[in-house]
Formats: sequence, structure tokens, C-alpha cells
Amino acid sequence: MTKLLEAYRRKIDSFEVVDIADPREIQRLRERQDVDARVDAHWAWNYGTEVEELRNLYEKGKRGQWDAEADIDWALPAGPDAWMLRPEASMLAQIAKLTGRDEATQKAAAFDEVAYTSSQLLHGEQAALQICGQLTNACERMDEKWYAASQVIDEARHVEVLSKFLQRKAGEIHPIGATLKFLLDVLLESEGVQKKTLGMQTLFEGMAVGIMDMLRGESQNALFSEILRRVEQDEARHAAFGVLMMRRIVGEASEAERASMEDWAFSILETLNANQQLDMLHYFAPKYGFEPEEVAKLMLGLPEFGAINSRPFMHTVIPNLRKLGLITARSEEKWRDVGMLVESAPGVKGMPASA
Ligand SMILES: [Fe+2]
Ligand SMILES: [Fe+2]
Repeated sequence: MTKLLEAYRRKIDSFEVVDIADPREIQRLRERQDVDARVDAHWAWNYGTEVEELRNLYEKGKRGQWDAEADIDWALPAGPDAWMLRPEASMLAQIAKLTGRDEATQKAAAFDEVAYTSSQLLHGEQAALQICGQLTNACERMDEKWYAASQVIDEARHVEVLSKFLQRKAGEIHPIGATLKFLLDVLLESEGVQKKTLGMQTLFEGMAVGIMDMLRGESQNALFSEILRRVEQDEARHAAFGVLMMRRIVGEASEAERASMEDWAFSILETLNANQQLDMLHYFAPKYGFEPEEVAKLMLGLPEFGAINSRPFMHTVIPNLRKLGLITARSEEKWRDVGMLVESAPGVKGMPASA
């Protein structure tokens, strides 16, 4: 099976990274705003409940609505003069410290990292908004359409809350990383309910929850914590929707289809993992004066690399893929080889019990 972004792969020591460093290529990916996303609309004539759990999730979604303007205390401070994260949790702050920068610079670096990561989450939320809109058309059953529609408004609210946080507190939204843009385009362009659900609901929602939960655990800022808490509450429902949909999809799939989903899931997340934050490192290297290559080398060489690296993967997405039968003995070793699947990783959680 060919790997994604083959042309941008190279080795740092024994690890194969994806590194899109050419500014023209980054620009080309960002400027590609029109994506050929073919969707089949499907009528459903049974307006009754076919899947009780989905209808319950829809009801839960209605009750769980909140207002990103009114329910958030926007007067709370957030800025580069106070630690946004625990210092040890910020890669950029650690780099600033290692290169002898003062504490003010380290704090500002942690703030930059929060703003950059929140910007990537924001762009991911926009993709979720669009793909979930596609699902309202393509889903076969009325329960699925109702639920997907309720998720559309959740995703719009996530785009709202993150963009307001960035505009109001950071004064800017950082552009999308090239690797993320490439992968989100793959999801937008993917054909059929099967791939769209697996790609967005299982892979990216699962990753987002893992990242948000880690950030919330390290957050030192009340506003940021509250935004993450509220978004995560909605994302837990979305993950449950993904699991319910995928259980049926995998259950009805042939062995060949199941194997192809297993390979596809790996190829998407392996590519994300292969970037090893190089997109962010290139972006901030001029400002903080470091070599992205050296930082990546340092990270990859840490004895605890696997444990650190696997945390966002082991949080939700890998346990869910395993339970769905989309990580089996066929592929397990590959996930392990690239430091995504590590049994001892802290904070390991399974599929939402309510699903
Ligand atoms: Fe979201
Ligand atoms: Fe979501």
C-alpha cells in the first residue's frame, strides 16, 4: 500500500517523517479552497425511530446546546504574560528555555503554542462542519440525518467559540498546517458514508478529543479550560455517534471492505503522526531561532518518546478502532512501530460507555 505524501517523506534517524517545508507548496495547499466533494443525497421515508440509541443521542444533543457568546465569560483574561499551560507541557516553552530565553519569552512561547494548536483545532472544526453537512445528505436513515443535523450546529458553535477566542485573545488565527490541510481534503473528498464517517467521526473526532483532553489537563487558564470543557462535552456525543454508525458499517462490511478500512485508517493517522509537529516548528522557527530538524531529532530520541507520542492516539481513537475491529493482528505491529500504539500510555480510555 502506498503511503500518503510520499514525496515529502524522509528519515530523521530511523523515523520516517512527513515534512512539507517548501513555502510555495504550503501556500498551494492553503489556497486550494475549492474541493471536489461529491455527495449522494438519499431520501428516507421511514420517519419513525429505527435506531433507538441514535434518537436518544439526538435528544441529548438538543438538551446540551449552549451559546458561545452568552455562556462563556469573555472578560476572563488570556494572553502571553501568564502561563497558559503548565510550562513542561509546552514544547515551544521548553525550546525557549533550552535556548536560554527569559521567562517572559517562555510564557509567550507557550501562548503561541496554544494559539497555534487552537487554530488547527478551529480549521479541523470547519472540516467537521462541512463533512457533517455532507452526512445529513448521504445517511440512509432518518435517525442518522437528525443526529448529523444536530451535530452541524454543534460544529458551527465550535468554529464560533474557537475563532472568537483567537480573535479576541490572540488577535490572530494561525493558518492551517500543510499536512493537516492535505489530510482534511482527503476526508472532504472521500466517497460514501463509510469513509466519511470513519474519517471524520472516528479518526479526527477521536484525535481532537485526545488533544483537547490533554490540553485541558495542562491548562492554567480558566477561559481556555472552560472553552475546552464545553467543546469536549459536545465531542463526546459526536464520538458516540461515530461509534454507533461505525459498528453497523463494519458489521455489514465484507472482509475485504473491513481490511480496506483498517488500512485507510492507518494511512491517515500515520501521516498525521509522521509530521511530528514539523509544520508548527517551521512556522515558529524564525521567531524563536531554532532548527526544526534538531528539535524533532531530540523528541524522537527521548527514551519516553513512545509514551509521550502515543498519548493523544491512545486516549480515544486507538481503543475505538480496536473495538470496531479496525486494528487487528494484520496492522497492530505497524501502529506500534511508529509510536502510536503503546500499551502503557497514561490516560487510556475506551469507547464511550453510553454508545
Ligand atoms: Fe467540533
Ligand atoms: Fe465534533
